[in-house]
Formats: sequence, structure tokens, C-alpha cells
Amino acid sequence: MPNSRPAQERPGDARVLDCLYRVGAFVNATEDPREALDFILEEIVRTLGASSASIALVEPATGSLRIEVSNGLDAASVKQVIDQGQGITGWVALYAKPQRIPDVSKDPRYVEIRKGVRSELAVPMELMGNVIGVVNCDSDRLDAFTEQDVAFLSLLTNEASKAVGRIWLLRQLRSKAAQLEALVRAAQGLARERDEPGISLDLARHTRALLGARACAYYNLVDDVLHLRSLDGDLGVSALAPSIALNRTSLGTVVTRGRSVVVPLAGKTEEDLFIRLSAPVAASSLLAMPVRYEDDTFGVLLCVAMGAYRFSDDDKHLVAALSSFGASSIQNARLYAKVFTVEEGLRRSERLTALGLLSAEVAHEIRNPLTVMKLLSDTLAQGMAADDPKMEDLGVMREKIAHMEGVVSRVLGMSKAQSGAFRDVDLRQAAENASLLLRLKLQQLGVKVDIVCAEALPLVEGNAGQIQQIFLNLMMNGVQAMAGGGALTLRLAVEPGPQGDVVAVRIADTGTGIPPKILPKIFDSFFTSREDGTGLGLAIVKRILRDHRGDIAVESTGPTGTQFRFWIPVRSSRA
Ligand SMILES: Nc1ncnc2c1ncn2[C@@H]1O[C@H](COP(=O)(O)OP(=O)(O)O)[C@@H](O)[C@H]1O
Ligand SMILES: [Mg+2]
Repeated sequence: MPNSRPAQERPGDARVLDCLYRVGAFVNATEDPREALDFILEEIVRTLGASSASIALVEPATGSLRIEVSNGLDAASVKQVIDQGQGITGWVALYAKPQRIPDVSKDPRYVEIRKGVRSELAVPMELMGNVIGVVNCDSDRLDAFTEQDVAFLSLLTNEASKAVGRIWLLRQLRSKAAQLEALVRAAQGLARERDEPGISLDLARHTRALLGARACAYYNLVDDVLHLRSLDGDLGVSALAPSIALNRTSLGTVVTRGRSVVVPLAGKTEEDLFIRLSAPVAASSLLAMPVRYEDDTFGVLLCVAMGAYRFSDDDKHLVAALSSFGASSIQNARLYAKVFTVEEGLRRSERLTALGLLSAEVAHEIRNPLTVMKLLSDTLAQGMAADDPKMEDLGVMREKIAHMEGVVSRVLGMSKAQSGAFRDVDLRQAAENASLLLRLKLQQLGVKVDIVCAEALPLVEGNAGQIQQIFLNLMMNGVQAMAGGGALTLRLAVEPGPQGDVVAVRIADTGTGIPPKILPKIFDSFFTSREDGTGLGLAIVKRILRDHRGDIAVESTGPTGTQFRFWIPVRSSRA
């Protein structure tokens, strides 16, 4: 028989010591713990003259044993899963005691894994006081192993345990690395999302996937009530409460204290909310995490475990990280939405201003011919007899002219009234506000903004909304002249003006410049060189500045850029 051995090779003699030495050296030298286990098994089989041997490891999640490496077993046997307490292997795992079975047919615990086995030896693998697996070897001969063999196998098993410890560490590291990668991907995904419903859905989805939870839900906080906004997992929406008042359950403390809460077995708690939960949720543990940005709590992320799971610290850190990513995305989305409404409002007010400008101009243009027509009608009447039948027509004409005059002066009066009340305005503040408003757009277009203002500026009197429009129009013109990005520089300073000091603002771009041919026309209404232009921007700016007793001009322009300068008088000190 190939596996039988002479008596002098029994453990305890020089060859056994030699084997232990080789195993120790190999296990310490190899980078690959699997290779180490294979090597150990081979040594066991050879030194103990076994017919087959295997190392089964305990799966941490289920507690059952799975064969990790084997020697002399066929593929089908290796696939078997052994429960704790089942067969010799399961028994050894459960009681953590080595077993030597001289005749397996006489042992009621024995479960056949391979045909032909007559005797067996099994030793528990222990790591830091826990059984992590079982080393097994068997022989086709009866009573093939001695008590000395048990001692020998125990020594080798020790080496195997160390190697397994390394496998686990490695696996743990790998799974942590994978988790970290997934976390980064989730964070990137969340950062890209721009609307709140999308974020709440993504948040629930990523959290569930990363945690391996049964389900995850996001509750949005509105006026002290949490509302279910998204749910990911194998639960129906009806499994969770659609809304939860903060003062009704311990989930409320998640919001009020800003801390996570774990509910170990939801259905077992006294609380009304949890008792009423649907069966699958009631039989699970819950983890609730606040979703907050600085002092604002947006909602609560609720994780439903698979049954009575104990959330680890790692789990909590993971969910906390995701919820903070979610919170900053929600914060961004809200800011983004705000910028859009502001932009929309600006565009509307630009259109209104343009309309005001237009009607004032039309009224002006009509008023002059009307005056002429009125004069002429007077002269016409003078040359006519009182009973001339055309006198009546002339009367109607003069009546209509008077009506039109009325309309025109009403329009002109209105456009004056529209400019609204003047208040104190800080031009530096206005410049900063405008660049803040355009921030996202400028970022997208690769334009850097610099505001240079050396001194404390005096205030000017004006309409803040209209002054903001000046900045926005001039800055947007500059941006449009810099396809592919560039720099906008705003310089503010006090300078002497025609009648006292003025605050002068220079806006310089690094754009393409204004061709000399069109330079005289750029302030005209409806003059534009751009396909989607209105030609109203500069005309409005000029009109607003005139209303503010200021003005604007191009200070320099050329292929390296353009600089506009506008000014508004310093507010006259009130007595
Ligand atoms: N910073 C600038 N650089 C180059 N050209 C400019 C600049 N600002 C204004 N322009 C020119 O002046 C024209 C009129 O500008 P504007 O009155 O704002 O109308 P719009 O922007 O709708 O064309 C523009 O079409 C462009 O040709
Ligand atoms: Mg413009």
C-alpha cells in the first residue's frame, strides 16, 4: 500500500520534527496562504500516511463549514457543506476537541464524504479562542492513527490556523477595499445628481447595496414630520409608515439629537410605530441615520437589516458617510435650484426693463410727430368756415390726437415711475453679488473673476436691482467674447468726476475685442453682432446709468480684450 509507513516514521521521531520545521519555514515564507494550506495538507498526508485529508473553514455568516483545501478528495465531495454538529467534522467544530476514530463504521456521528474511509482523525483549528475550522485526515485502513498522531496533527493545525488567519485578514482587507471603492463611486454618483428626488433614490439604493441590507428608505423632513420619499429593496412601500411625526417615535430623536439610532428588533419594542410595522420589517433590526448638513437636518436614512442583525461600528460609519454625502448633494441641489430661480427672475426683469425701454422710446418717437399733427390741425381749422362740414371731421381728428397724447404721456410717466425709489448702494457689494450669481456659469465656461478694490468705497444712490443688471450685462458680454474661457477683472475706485467724486467701475475681459467698424454702434438699441443677441444689453446699461446721473464708455479694446468703464456719482452727504 502506497500510504502505509514503517514504524520508525511515527511522529515524535526526527522526520516528524523535520516536517514541522519545513512547514513552519514554508508558512512564514509564502505570500499566498492557500499555497501554505496545500503544503501543510501534503505534509500531513505524507507524514501520517493518510489516504485523504481536508481543511474545512467555518463561514462567519452562517457558522457552517466549507472545505477550503483538500488532498485525495474528488470535486463532488469537496463541494459539500457541513453544519455545526454534523458528522465528525461538525462535532469537532462545535466542541473544539480533537477526535480520533479508529473505526468510522462504529461511530454514529460519522457521515460518509468519501467511499472507503475506515478510520479518521479530526482536529479543531483555533484562532484567538474561536474555532475557525477543522483539519481532517482519514485512512482506508482500520485504526490507522495513534494518539501521537493526534498531537502531531495538532501542532501542524496550529500552523494552518495562522495561515488561515492571514487568508481572513486578506479577504477582509479586500472586501473593505471593494467597499471603499463602491463608497467613492456612490459619492461621485450623488455629487452628479442635481435634483432632490434623484438624490433620495440614489441614497437609498447605494446604502442598501453597500450595506447588503434588506431595504433602505429615505424620509424627508418637512415641518416636524418625516415623509417617506424613496425606498430600495424587496419591501413594498406599504411595509413602512408613509409619514412619521417627530414627537411620536424614537426615530424622531434621530432628527432632534442629530444622532443615529438602532432598533434591535423592531417588532419587539413597545413603541406603537414599530408594533404596527409589517411582518418583515417588524422581524428585522433597523438603523436610522440623520441626513444633515451643518445645522440643517434634511431627513433620515432608514436601513432595514436581514432579520435580527447586529449593526457593527463599520456599518454605522458606512451609513454615516453615505448620509453625509447625500446631505451635501441635497444642499447643492437646493442652492442650484435657488440660482436657477434667481437667473430666471433676472432674465424676466431684463425682458421687462427692455420692454420699458422700448415703450419709452416708442412713446418719444410718437410724441414729436403728434405735436406736429396737433399744430397742423389747428392751422387747418383756422382757414375753415364754422359751418364747413369738414369741421366735424377735423374735430374728431383733434380728439383722437389728444387721446394719443394722453396715452404717450402716461407711458412716459410710467417708465419714469418704474425706476423706483433710490437707496444707498454699495457697488463693491453689487459686484460681489453679481459674480456670486454667475459663479456656476463662469465655472462651467472656465472664466476666472477677480474683484479688485483697494479702498473702502463710498456709497452711491441708486436702484439695487438695476445696478445689478449693469454688472450682469457687462460681465455676460465679456464672457461671450471669451469662448474657451479667460479672466474677468472688476476694478472699483473713487475718482474725480465732472461734478464731484464718482465711483468708477472698470470691467476688463481677455476676449476678442470690439471691431472698430461696430464700436460706434454698440450702445444703440437692437444693435448686436451675435446670432442670439438682442442688442439691448448695452442700451439698457446706458439708460440705467443716465438715470443714475452716471455714464459708460469703452476705455480700451483690441485683440487681447476689452475694458468698459462706468461711473456713478458718490452719494451727496445729507444735511
Ligand atoms: N466685452 C465685449 N467684447 C466684445 N464685444 C462686445 C463686448 N460687449 C459688447 N460687445 C459687442 O457689442 C454688441 C452689443 O452688445 P449688447 O448690447 O450687450 O447686445 P448683445 O449682447 O445682445 O449682442 C455685442 O453684440 C458685441 O458685438
Ligand atoms: Mg449683451
